Amino acid sequence: MPKRVTWSQYRESIGDRSGLFAALAGAWSIERALYPGSYVDLSPSTAFGLVTYVDNDARAARFFADPDLVRAELAGLTGPGVDPEVRFLAGDYTKPLDVPEGSMDLLISLYAGPVSEYCRRDLRPGGLLLANTSHGDASVAALEPDVRLVAAVHHANAGYRLVTDGLETYLVPKRPETADAVRIRSSGRGIAYTRSAAAYLFEVP
Ligand SMILES: C[S@@+](CC[C@H](N)C(=O)[O-])C[C@H]1O[C@@H](n2cnc3c(N)ncnc32)[C@H](O)[C@@H]1O
Repeated sequence: MPKRVTWSQYRESIGDRSGLFAALAGAWSIERALYPGSYVDLSPSTAFGLVTYVDNDARAARFFADPDLVRAELAGLTGPGVDPEVRFLAGDYTKPLDVPEGSMDLLISLYAGPVSEYCRRDLRPGGLLLANTSHGDASVAALEPDVRLVAAVHHANAGYRLVTDGLETYLVPKRPETADAVRIRSSGRGIAYTRSAAAYLFEVP
């Protein structure tokens, strides 16, 4: 049996992202979110009605298999009017997922590999991609002509702030020759920018 890990334990090491998702919920209409490579980060469920988590780690499967524990972990932490429905898919997000194609309002890609490459089909047209540069997802999205940056996310003193003005000053490569999607994917790492943010929110056509 895998070791028991909970979100409350995990957020002691990575912090609590609930404020980030509350900020997104306050600014965009998001009901359904997909979080491939979530591990046990339950924070999106504090803000959104239906979140589908995906992970191939047995510890995540063990956590999400206990609905009483998941409910207890969320108790008192959900935003106004949020009645969270939590789904978990155990498996590899690079394979087709058991979710209605084109149904998600938000795809979350944080520290978990090339999520947007494999799971973009699950986003509805005009859906949102939240990505950081850790494994290159934000850097690749930034190079796609139809994908539009709609917010930069800043993180300081355990709080989150969304910036929606002056977005043209973000995602400007420090070294233009590094802005190559094939290179970024093969390295599995994002590139450096003249102005950086903790994460980026994109609208995907
Ligand atoms: C570094 S952790 C990040 C967890 C969480 N996204 C966060 O930001 O705190 C990466 C997670 O992605 C999962 N993962 C990586 N590749 C995966 C894949 N192809 N399918 C499913 N899960 C994957 C790992 O099992 C791990 O739990």
